[in-house]
Amino acid sequence: MANFDKATILEALGTVNDPDLHRDLVSLGMIRDLEIADDVVSLRVVLTTPACPLKGKIQSDVEAALRKVGVEKMNVAMDAEVHRANPDGTPGSPQAERMPGVKAVVAVASGKGGVGKSTVAVNLAISLQRLGAKVGILDADIYGPSLPIMLGLRESRPTMTADEKIAPVPRYGLQAMSMGFMLREDQAVVWRGPMLGKALQQFIEDVDWGELDYVIVDMPPGTGDVQLSLAQLLPVAGTVVVTTPQDVAFADVRRAIKQFELTKTPVLGIVENMSHFVCGGCGAEHHIFGESRIESHAAKYDLPVLARIPLDGVTAVSADQGEPIVVAAPDSDTAKVYSELAQRVAQAVAVETHKRAGVKEKLQGFFGKR
Ligand SMILES: Nc1ncnc2c1ncn2[C@@H]1O[C@H](COP(=O)(O)OP(=O)(O)OP(=O)(O)O)[C@@H](O)[C@H]1O
Ligand SMILES: [Mg+2]
Repeated sequence: MANFDKATILEALGTVNDPDLHRDLVSLGMIRDLEIADDVVSLRVVLTTPACPLKGKIQSDVEAALRKVGVEKMNVAMDAEVHRANPDGTPGSPQAERMPGVKAVVAVASGKGGVGKSTVAVNLAISLQRLGAKVGILDADIYGPSLPIMLGLRESRPTMTADEKIAPVPRYGLQAMSMGFMLREDQAVVWRGPMLGKALQQFIEDVDWGELDYVIVDMPPGTGDVQLSLAQLLPVAGTVVVTTPQDVAFADVRRAIKQFELTKTPVLGIVENMSHFVCGGCGAEHHIFGESRIESHAAKYDLPVLARIPLDGVTAVSADQGEPIVVAAPDSDTAKVYSELAQRVAQAVAVETHKRAGVKEKLQGFFGKR
């Protein structure tokens, strides 16, 4: 006869912390469907992201805690639910009603053009999808959309849904939307500020995004209208800032970080793209732009370096052919770097969302629930 019951089990699991959120799994509501039948304990651990890099550690911590109270037979299922990142926390607010089925919007931005935002956005999105998340990608570069080429969707046009919404174009497991789907390649867009915001708003409101864990937004370069509009239109869970090793690129990043501070969008961290070149022959790392100073730069802003992506010929060629490197060469070192980036981004989003929820809880404690 078992000498444990649900209360003992929950007490034991109350000692297991989520290493990122620094709180125990029970009070975080992560333990679900706990059953005890014939000495077998079954439960589901619901993490905050399917791309959790600590999944294995959390599972073994749970199993160890169960064994400590005498459980020998167990079924510990690992599952995930991304929480909705809604900074103003007001259900029913216009922000909460846009993209209602989308849990977290992550922008990929930079202060400067041509540093690899679109490349990073596409490969990050596919890597998140491969780790088990449901992912969309929105090309917010209205003037110079890159997604149709990078995803091999040059000829694609979105269709309408039964309720007159625009259906995103599916590709590589993603749901994609881009201004490029609406235009012929030789058509130039001559829209100005307010119209840009309007186009973005349509991509957010008139597109049937469905139920998604993450929507990755490929931002246009710089710190202009689109950046402001996005922050006003949507609760952006966080921004990934892309830079190259040159200091001049970092000066632009500084400006981008400042702007995100102004719009109260958390910066999740920095990606150094074209960071170094790995020699195909000898495997040595060549720092063709000089030794990277990204770590010390990032530390000044108290930001993590989320990834250092090598410069590699396959990335550019595969992008032009509409097959991102994580699809063209899934076992390459670069694809591994992207997979780690995806895990770090998912982790950082979960932490930011949790922080906001904590602030909301505290405010409700002060002012009472409204
Ligand atoms: N790590 C890399 N190695 C090699 N080539 C790369 C790498 N990252 C990006 N590129 C290439 O650099 C060029 C610019 O990349 P990309 O279009 O992603 O930049 P961007 O920041 O989105 O540009 P824009 O500011 O115009 O939107 C592309 O040709 C792309 O294939
Ligand atoms: Mg781009």
